Amino acid sequence: MKIKNICCIGAGYVGGPTMSVIAQHNPEIKVTVVDLNKERIDAWNDKNLNNLPIYEPGLIEVVSKARGRNLFFSNDIDGAIKESEMIFISVNTPTKTYGTGKGMAADLKYVELCARNIGKIAKSDKIVVEKSTLPVKTAESIQSILENAGSGVNFEILSNPEFLAEGTAMRDLAIPDRVLIGGNDKTEEGKKAIQALVDIYSSWVPKENILTTNVWSSELSKLTANAFLAQRISSINSLSELCERTGASIGEVSKAIGMDSRIGSKFLNASVGFGGSCFQKDILNLVYISRSLGLNEVAEYWNQVIVMNTHQRDRFAKNIIKNLYNTVSGKSIAIFGWAFKKDTNDSRESAAIYVADTLISEHAILNIYDPKVSSSQMIFDINYLNTRSEFENKKYLNIKSDPYKAVEGAHAVAILTEWDEFKTYNWKKIYQMMKKPAFIFDGRNILDKDHLEEIGFNYNSIG
Ligand code: UDX
Ligand code: ADP
Repeated sequence: MKIKNICCIGAGYVGGPTMSVIAQHNPEIKVTVVDLNKERIDAWNDKNLNNLPIYEPGLIEVVSKARGRNLFFSNDIDGAIKESEMIFISVNTPTKTYGTGKGMAADLKYVELCARNIGKIAKSDKIVVEKSTLPVKTAESIQSILENAGSGVNFEILSNPEFLAEGTAMRDLAIPDRVLIGGNDKTEEGKKAIQALVDIYSSWVPKENILTTNVWSSELSKLTANAFLAQRISSINSLSELCERTGASIGEVSKAIGMDSRIGSKFLNASVGFGGSCFQKDILNLVYISRSLGLNEVAEYWNQVIVMNTHQRDRFAKNIIKNLYNTVSGKSIAIFGWAFKKDTNDSRESAAIYVADTLISEHAILNIYDPKVSSSQMIFDINYLNTRSEFENKKYLNIKSDPYKAVEGAHAVAILTEWDEFKTYNWKKIYQMMKKPAFIFDGRNILDKDHLEEIGFNYNSIG
């Protein structure tokens, strides 16, 4: 089965970069990325590539070559579904904010809407690929919706979870550790569908890195991979607190254990806590599924990863308050970094949001600087927590486009994202601009302690 047209529903952090790379390596396939959000599609089509809706190193280069050749961004969802033999569903699946499973389960309404729409529109056979992270057995629901649409065409469902990490998405897509494709290899049609997707990836991924499994293994593997990664961070963060009490150094402990080849050195950086759209959502999902199946010990085991992460964020904020003589009321604090990690403009679930919220509750005045996150996004993030009114939030938030403006008269600087540029700042100048004693709370352990203490800073790191 030769695929000539691909449609991807959802032009976000996953759909956009993934389809750009598929189009880059498969110039004979027309790839159309569609979205309900007109503003987002307009931004993807903007002549000025600096206005693409997401920031990802290396993305502009790939989009500039493929866009208009075989990569298209459009709001014509139905048209793209009609003409494609393969449809990726890459829409958001946030944690539910209402009803059963509120705060725990994934909200599948966007996925279901897509499936119903495909069922209604399709006039020829389609391969439907789950790209969004979904609870185990979602493929079954999609299959049922499509089969009952009465369109008389055949649908094959594949699960093809995305493992890219934001900030390094283009590299992760170019040389993936593995590509996972879950499908039904018990039928001829199923086998053909799996092969069609394998062929697309084979354009640039070595065959031995393309793994095929059954659909449910594929779905569960994605949740498991994220749960394991997040668990490492919570584990090292839990020990950072122990280090602070005992005089051991978490950096030294991470290095020592990371050199054990069985443990490995990655994902052992203690921090103010993990963020991002995936880790918390996927673990909550795992906890919810386990509880629903009566597996309470399994659920509690994974839930602790979240408990630890919330604790790490809280104690970071409380440590700032404690060090500033137990009150931050009316004091200005410079917040460096709002994104959930460096090299992205994504702030979903960023630790910065929660730390800022705690500080605002104590009436601190926040001067926030981030190189990529927009001021409207920061305001949205704080208001979204609903801790107090928008009017009230406004009194405490100053968003700065120049980091040196953020530190004028500040009592403290809190580093919440590990942006490289923070390391190169003129910290002597910053010290001179701040109130004394001048504090730094380095939530990412990226600055040079000795240098800063020499300047006169009171430097606090994690662990
Ligand atoms: C994650 C998974 O890595 C990726 O495979 C999956 O497809 C989506 O979820 P992402 O959330 O984009 O990717 O970024 P990741 O690099 O995993 O970082 C997540 C969070 O953990 C960030 O807030 C990061 O700062 C934090 N982190 C990461 C640490 O605090 N310490 C570490 O050692 C590593
Ligand atoms: P992710 O990080 O998973 O890519 P994003 O929120 O960045 O998540 O992107 C998901 C995109 O899916 C959004 O741009 C949203 O507008 C789009 N979307 C959600 N539901 C639908 C739908 N039914 N049809 C088309 N696009 C949708």
